[in-house]
Amino acid sequence: MSIFTASATAPVNIATLKYWGKRDKTLNLPTNSSISVTLDQNDLRTLTSAATSPDFKSDNLWLNGKEEGIKGERTIACLRDLKKLRKELEDQNPSLPKLSEWGLHIVSENNFPTAAGLASSAAGFAALVSAIAKLYELPQSMSEISKIARKGSGSACRSLFGGYVAWEMGDKEDGSDSKAVEVAPVDHWPSMKAAILVVSDDKKDTPSTTGMQSTVATSDLFQYRIKEVVPKRFEDMKKAIQDRDFEVFGDLTMKDSNSFHAVCLDSVPPIFYLNDTSKKIIKLIHKLNEQEGKIVAAYTFDAGPNAVVYYEEQNENKVLGLIHKYFSKVPGWEKVTEKKSQFIDSNIEFDTDAYKGVSRIILTGIGPGPQSTDQSLVNDKGLPK
Ligand code: DP6
Repeated sequence: MSIFTASATAPVNIATLKYWGKRDKTLNLPTNSSISVTLDQNDLRTLTSAATSPDFKSDNLWLNGKEEGIKGERTIACLRDLKKLRKELEDQNPSLPKLSEWGLHIVSENNFPTAAGLASSAAGFAALVSAIAKLYELPQSMSEISKIARKGSGSACRSLFGGYVAWEMGDKEDGSDSKAVEVAPVDHWPSMKAAILVVSDDKKDTPSTTGMQSTVATSDLFQYRIKEVVPKRFEDMKKAIQDRDFEVFGDLTMKDSNSFHAVCLDSVPPIFYLNDTSKKIIKLIHKLNEQEGKIVAAYTFDAGPNAVVYYEEQNENKVLGLIHKYFSKVPGWEKVTEKKSQFIDSNIEFDTDAYKGVSRIILTGIGPGPQSTDQSLVNDKGLPK
C-alpha cells in the first residue's frame, strides 16, 4: 500500500508575558500580545508522526499510546486548515498525490510524564501542525503555520519558534494577523536557564479556556491589564531580550506573572492557581534577589501551582545552590550531580518542610523550535508502533 509519513518534534514554551483572555473563542484570538521562552526539547518535547494513504478512510489520533480519535473542535479546525493548504498545492500542480483527500493517522508522544502536571497542549498542537505541514510539504512560513497551531491552543503558536518568541495579537477579525514571530533566536541569549518546580496539588485547576473566559467577563482589573499594562510591557520586554538585560527581563516576568494571577483573583468567582508552596517559592526568590542586591532569578506561574524559575547560567551556582538547599529531597537533581560541588551554600532562612509540596524538579534551558526527525511512531501500515 502507498503510504506517506513525516515526523516532527516541538518544544514547550513558558510565557514571561502572559496570554490571558480571548476576543474570539473559536479562532483563539487573544485580548493581548504575549512573549515566551522556548524550552530545551531534550527535557520537554512532543514527538508526532503523521501518516496518510488512500486506504485511510478517516482521520485518527493516538496520544501517549492511547487511541483518542479526533474529538475536539480545535483539532478538527487545525486539520481542516492544513488540508486546505495542501489542496491549494494540489490544485496548482495536478501531478501531486491527492493527500488532502485521504485520512490522516496522527501518533503523538511526550518525553515527559503527563503526571508531571505540565500543560502539554502547546507542544502537542505545535508538533501536530509541524508534522502534518512536513507531510504535506507546505511552503508557508513558520508564522503562517503558527496561525493554525493557534487555533488548537493559543499558546501553541509560540512553540513554532525557538528562543524568544512573541505572539502578536493582531487586530483583524479573521485572525490573519494574529501570529507568532521570533523576538530573538537561542544563540542571541543562550545562557537562559529554567528550573521547573513541579508543585503537587490534589485539586483540579480551572482549565485555561474557562478561566480566561470568566476573567474577560467579570474582572474590572483585567481591562486595566490589557489596556494600560501589557502594551507597554510587551515593548519593554522585547527590548530587555534584545539588550540581554536580565534585571529588566526578570522584573517584568515576575510582575506579569503576578498581574495575571491578580486578574484571576479579581474574577467572579475568583480563580486560585497558586497554592501555599507556590507562594513560598515566590518569597524565596524575592529573598535571593534582595540579598544579591539585583535580580538574578525570576519566577513565573501559569494556570496551576508549578513554578518556573528563569536565571542566567552565570548565576547557576547561586540560584541552584539555594533551591538545592531546600529542595534536595525531590527527584530531578541527577542531571547536575557533577555540578553540585560548585553550588554556593546560602544563608537564606526558609521553611525546611516546603520540599514536601514539590514532587520533582526539571532543570532545563532555552532551546530551538520544531525539528524534523526520522524517528517515527508509525509502522508500515500507518498504525502506532
Ligand atoms: C496561563 O494556550 O492553554 O499558560 O488557547 O484556551 O488553549 P487556550 O489556552 P492556553 O492558555 C495558556 C495560558 C497561560 C499563559 C500563556 O501561556 O501565555
